[in-house]
Amino acid sequence: MKTTYKNIIENAYNLTKSLENSGKLATYIPELANVNPSNLGVHMTTLDGTHFGMGNHQDKFSIQSIAKVLSLTLAVKLIGDKVWQRIDVEPSGTKFDSLLLLETYKGIPRNPFVNSGAIVICDILLTYCKNAKIEFLEFVRDLSDIPDLNYSDEIADSEKATGYRNVALCNFIKSFGNIKNEPVDVLDFYFDMCSIEMTCQQLSQTFTFLANGGIKISDGKKIISKSKCKRINALMLTCGFYDESGEFAFKVGLPGKSGVGGGIVALYPHNYAIAVWSPKLNPNGNSFRGMRLLEEVTTHSELSIF
Ligand code: DON
Repeated sequence: MKTTYKNIIENAYNLTKSLENSGKLATYIPELANVNPSNLGVHMTTLDGTHFGMGNHQDKFSIQSIAKVLSLTLAVKLIGDKVWQRIDVEPSGTKFDSLLLLETYKGIPRNPFVNSGAIVICDILLTYCKNAKIEFLEFVRDLSDIPDLNYSDEIADSEKATGYRNVALCNFIKSFGNIKNEPVDVLDFYFDMCSIEMTCQQLSQTFTFLANGGIKISDGKKIISKSKCKRINALMLTCGFYDESGEFAFKVGLPGKSGVGGGIVALYPHNYAIAVWSPKLNPNGNSFRGMRLLEEVTTHSELSIF
């Protein structure tokens, strides 16, 4: 890895570590409250396979909504543009779990990264896969090169016991006919999908295919076409941070995706993928220090998609 990237990450990490650790843990999923709020990790993987990390970059955490990018990838790989008959590609301007716009748009979620959109993606996978839970897991195992990757029962069960808003979202969408399977099955898969755990190192490695035109860097396997890769990156840029997507584009300038476990993954096409983790969230459900750290990285590297 270029020494400049290493220096930039070191400086960004040290600066972020010295700042006040503001925000709140995502206690609405009880299991997510059982993490040390002072954790901070960052890991960058460049397309030549070199990598560098700092802090808690090798500790596993719940990737939550970051998994929505991987489920979308599998859905577009399986059925291509048919996905967009069921989900729109517009920023929602609302919180990730909002019900508001579903009434206006008659059960068509604004984009695949708000919870409603990701729930419809799960419904699509249930329809097109023989066993969606297993096929999705196999897909992520292959992408990440982690053969023993699994869903976390503790985290999934914790959300299954408390995820009333997602139950409401799924049933509401079903009432418009945009959920084809039984809501109980769709939600079971959705909660499992969100429960996957990875380290910053694993997450940055996993997302390099999106910086590399849809091709996995470890074995050269084509995951999706360049055009599908472009679309997924465009959606991460415009919708990856919910009502803060504009802010992330403004300050960081890269496609990225956050999760309520406090992780963020971002990528600089043709160059690198980077993952950060700091569990305390801002009011929009995005990692406070994670966003700050990435802002430092792109400000000092003077490299962004703009
Ligand atoms: O459905 C939920 O509420 C969580 N499993 C995922 C939400 C999430 O990660 C939002 N991201 N910032």
